Amino acid sequence: MIQIRGLTVAFGAVIALDALDALLDEPVCGLIGPNGAGKTTLVNLLSGFVPARSGDVRVDDTPLLGMDTARRVRFGLRRSFQTEQVVEDLSVWDNVQAMLDHVPHPLDGSDEQVHRALEHAGLLDCAAVPGAELDLFRRRMVEVAKALVGEPRLILFDEPGAGLDERESRVLRDAIAAIPERFGAQVLLIDHDVDLIAAICTQTLVLDFGRRLALGATREVLDDPAVRQAYLGA
Ligand SMILES: Nc1ncnc2c1ncn2[C@@H]1O[C@H](COP(=O)(O)OP(=O)(O)O)[C@@H](O)[C@H]1O
Ligand SMILES: [Mg+2]
Repeated sequence: MIQIRGLTVAFGAVIALDALDALLDEPVCGLIGPNGAGKTTLVNLLSGFVPARSGDVRVDDTPLLGMDTARRVRFGLRRSFQTEQVVEDLSVWDNVQAMLDHVPHPLDGSDEQVHRALEHAGLLDCAAVPGAELDLFRRRMVEVAKALVGEPRLILFDEPGAGLDERESRVLRDAIAAIPERFGAQVLLIDHDVDLIAAICTQTLVLDFGRRLALGATREVLDDPAVRQAYLGA
């Protein structure tokens, strides 16, 4: 559960998030809005890459803003990056295994965790392949697998489907949708593809100029005239 109260993030004179209030409490939540609306800023704020000017953010009732990024990772926060952070000369297995150096995990259960994450991401057949030999889709899936080890609590995906073809997007979509049930983590998903959001997110937050334009059940939000006007161009 993500509780946001009066959150303002500014870059100099640019107010990227403007006194935002939101309660996101569904297993898979969507975050949409026009370019420049503040979506990536919210992901950066949650993962500790940008500071808040004011406000309060809690995840599962724990205040986040005082925690540095390393502590947030240990707490269970995960994010995918728009440019994949795959180590070229490490195997797929070792790329995922390396995540465990930063998070709490049982000493004798790490192989099992890596195996489970790779299986979920459909990467078991290329576990031994070095990062350098992976195509875009598999790099993306390595990002997903890395987010799944070490007891994730909240996973943030910022446009994970960008550049993928339709079949690849479907595989990614199914993998993301199944995360809460199989790994116990909440998911916050940013995507331009409204059909994707509608397919797997039960609750959606719409931002526009750093403000909350709508928040609620995804279907209702997408049918909201204000949302259609500002975002869908209807
Ligand atoms: N590091 C930064 N420095 C200055 N301005 C930024 C920075 N990051 C984002 N912004 C500005 O904040 C606003 C929100 O950007 P962003 O969160 O990237 O939007 P979105 O992801 O919804 O497209 C934009 O006006 C953008 O130019
Ligand atoms: Mg963005």
